[in-house]
Amino acid sequence: MDRIRIVGGQKLNGVIRISGAKNAALPLMIASLLTNETLTLENIPDLADVGMLLRILGHHGVDHSIDGRRPGAPARASRALHLSARQIVDTTAPYEFVSRMRASFWVIAPLLARMGEAKVSLPGGCAIGTRPVDLLLMVFEKLGAVIEIEAGYVQAKAPKGLSGAEIHFPKVTVGGTHTALMAASLAKGHTVLHNAAREPEIVDVADCLIKMGARIKGAGQSTVEIEGVGSLSGARHVVLPDRIEAGTYAMAVAMAGGDVMLEGASPTLLESAIEAIEKTGAEISATNEGLRVRRNGRGLLPVDIATAPFPGFPTDLQAQFMALMTKAKGSSRITETIFENRFMHVQELVRLGAHIKLDGDAAVVEGVDELQGAPVMATDLRASMSLVIAALAAEGETTVNRVYHLDRGFEHIEEKLGACGAMIERLTDRA
Ligand code: EPZ
Repeated sequence: MDRIRIVGGQKLNGVIRISGAKNAALPLMIASLLTNETLTLENIPDLADVGMLLRILGHHGVDHSIDGRRPGAPARASRALHLSARQIVDTTAPYEFVSRMRASFWVIAPLLARMGEAKVSLPGGCAIGTRPVDLLLMVFEKLGAVIEIEAGYVQAKAPKGLSGAEIHFPKVTVGGTHTALMAASLAKGHTVLHNAAREPEIVDVADCLIKMGARIKGAGQSTVEIEGVGSLSGARHVVLPDRIEAGTYAMAVAMAGGDVMLEGASPTLLESAIEAIEKTGAEISATNEGLRVRRNGRGLLPVDIATAPFPGFPTDLQAQFMALMTKAKGSSRITETIFENRFMHVQELVRLGAHIKLDGDAAVVEGVDELQGAPVMATDLRASMSLVIAALAAEGETTVNRVYHLDRGFEHIEEKLGACGAMIERLTDRA
């Protein structure tokens, strides 16, 4: 199992190219099941989750090809992925897949909408919470499907197709909104979503569905209207930049000090996180290349945050911000309102010398002058990056174990950080 070894104390200076957003790429790839024509996606990040989803889509009958490098293109140039679900050969998504990549549960929407049936394993919980799918199933029932749960599988049937409906989400759900948009796009008639998720990734997927012929109005707002169509066609779409990756590296620079250009990062996708990072004393300026992040000299100021659905502070940046606050000059309160167990990184940060106390849905961080490097364990995708951020500013050597969590959502971190001066290397066990 790979490990990442970091020796702290180096400032970060240079350029980091921000990759395509994982949380847009995954639903966009799933949307290829909605059409029998080819969907071409550009700027797809090179991540373990993308590779896993390609295997899953292949199981359903999706052929894919990836454009090779063009003459003179840099090694990490964005890749184009061509997906063709000419025929769907299997409407079952087995436990072995769904249990390893939760978002693959979302294939239930295009399978049901296009084939009239789907049998998908319940995803089960994960490190950050129970992650129920009751609201996703509520959507399909409202659209006329019959849902049964048996032996850990959801059986969804709509032999006469889906019909538009008025759907009220009792709480904001990104997955619920993605699957409602996909299913309603091929339902007969009009659908209205109330209290829909407003994340930029929702807007990106809706933009792609519209290019495929879907009729969607209001994506990115709380109320979204969809007029069903008989079928969808192929399209070409460029995946938007990953705001979570950009926010993560901005916090790394704020922690380590230095001056880095986050190339391709878009400030409009990150307003609440940028506001919080600037309050700590770091400087962030938007240029036409992306976001420039600087922090030199002055110490970090403590800042309280509470996660919330977009446009609030992203829950996917909570662990990273907590790492930043471990060296702030004072006390900060970090409240997690989205997931019930998203503090797995606290104990690992404490191992590095952080002073953090849990208080219900909040963590209270008392900043310390120094962190000490130590072996730590990554527990989930975003938590693993909080350990990297802390390690960059810790005295001595830190080894982050179970790096496969990192590889799921952050592309080539040792190259990106190493190119800016971090002392970071990947240790591969000769297994
Ligand atoms: C998406 O997960 C993201 N994943 C998550 O990112 C992100 O943290 C989350 O949205 C919130 O922004 C992808 O986009 C692939 P939700 P999702 O449905 O859709 C509850 C990462 O690190 N809920 O918005 O699963 C749920 O338990 C990942 O990239 C129900 O109760 O999240 C949670 O408390 C982690 N019933 C809240 O809603 C349901 O049917 C928000 O979950 C669905 C959700």
